[in-house]
Amino acid sequence: MYVCLCKAVTDGQIRQLVDEGARSWSEVRKQTGCGTQCGKCACVGKQVTQQAIKDA
Ligand code: FES
Repeated sequence: MYVCLCKAVTDGQIRQLVDEGARSWSEVRKQTGCGTQCGKCACVGKQVTQQAIKDA
């Protein structure tokens, strides 16, 4: 599913970044642009990132 519509970021993309070594929301944000435009997705983006890190 899309987490961020502004930057077209999916939860799958976030999980993949974590798989590839991203270990924080700010890293994911920097790499995808998620949450950097309207900011509405920041809360969900952060949750997805933290869950992915927990599962990693
Ligand atoms: Fe992610 Fe707007 S939906 S910045």
